Amino acid sequence: MAVPRLTSMTRRPAAPREVALGARLRYLAPPMMELEPASEGNPRALASTREILTGEILRVPAVRAEGLTKVFQDARGAPLHAADNISFECYPGEVFGLLGPNGAGKSTTLRMLSTVLRPTAGSAVVAGHGLEEDPLGVRRSIGYLSSSTGLYGRLTARETLDYFGSLHGLSGVGLRARIAELLLLFAMEEFADVRCEKLSTGTRQKVSIARALIHDPPVLILDEPTLGLDILVASVMIRCIEDCRARGKCIILSTHIMSEVEKLCDRVAIIHRGKLRAVGTLAELRERTGKQYMDDIFLAFVEA
Ligand SMILES: Nc1ncnc2c1ncn2[C@@H]1O[C@H](COP(=O)(O)OP(=O)(O)O)[C@@H](O)[C@H]1O
Ligand SMILES: [Mg+2]
Repeated sequence: MAVPRLTSMTRRPAAPREVALGARLRYLAPPMMELEPASEGNPRALASTREILTGEILRVPAVRAEGLTKVFQDARGAPLHAADNISFECYPGEVFGLLGPNGAGKSTTLRMLSTVLRPTAGSAVVAGHGLEEDPLGVRRSIGYLSSSTGLYGRLTARETLDYFGSLHGLSGVGLRARIAELLLLFAMEEFADVRCEKLSTGTRQKVSIARALIHDPPVLILDEPTLGLDILVASVMIRCIEDCRARGKCIILSTHIMSEVEKLCDRVAIIHRGKLRAVGTLAELRERTGKQYMDDIFLAFVEA
């Protein structure tokens, strides 16, 4: 695939417009960039007409992690490399899976990308914002579902969404409409006015993910979004993730469930003891290992 030319992107306000995204539905291009088709008179433009029409221009990563490293101390005070030189890129309209067993370093990596944890070394750019340079910009651009996202027990689902929506600067009719949309999406209307402390685990998880989506961010960072959910709620989560992908979001999720990767992920990074062992599409990883199933592929990389 041709690499888009990045020489002369002009950044000026423009109305959102729809851009064809290859075989996938359509992607609402972010309003911040005006793409000028290359022509003889304008040879240094960012994108050729072909690149725009084929969607190749969207191969600008939404997230780029470069050498992310986090060193903790273990119980005896020795350095523990929870994440060790992790680099990858993910794109709009893609579900990117971080696959690894407990303790592999998935949450640590996602917490660094979400600005919750400061890397010991390395850097990342999320939706054009550097972790170090512009952490607020990163936070505005992501919906983060942490492995330990707590909800305020005394707030109802609706109040929770209202509260987090207003933290993101939403208000009035726009916020009410967004809350109604999310309650409908997650089939939560009948629980909308029940305090979170009274909700089941599955419904609480729905509130947590709705909370992460409230400001319609371009990047979703989901740490084991289906952990502990029954199959019905898990399938609602998976449909929601697929829907976000179809709308051009970049979704990074962590999981230790091999079948979830097979079902959902466009590309997967295998992580083990803090290190990335492999990154690729399922087809690429199958070809590299000669194995068919995700669990055999995983073992081939971690035992190598
Ligand atoms: N705050 C912390 N202090 C010390 N060690 C930690 C801390 N957080 C995580 N770890 C250790 O880092 C390693 C990776 O943890 P984590 O990123 O949570 O793995 P995963 O999410 O893949 O299960 C584990 O050995 C874990 O015990
Ligand atoms: Mg974890």
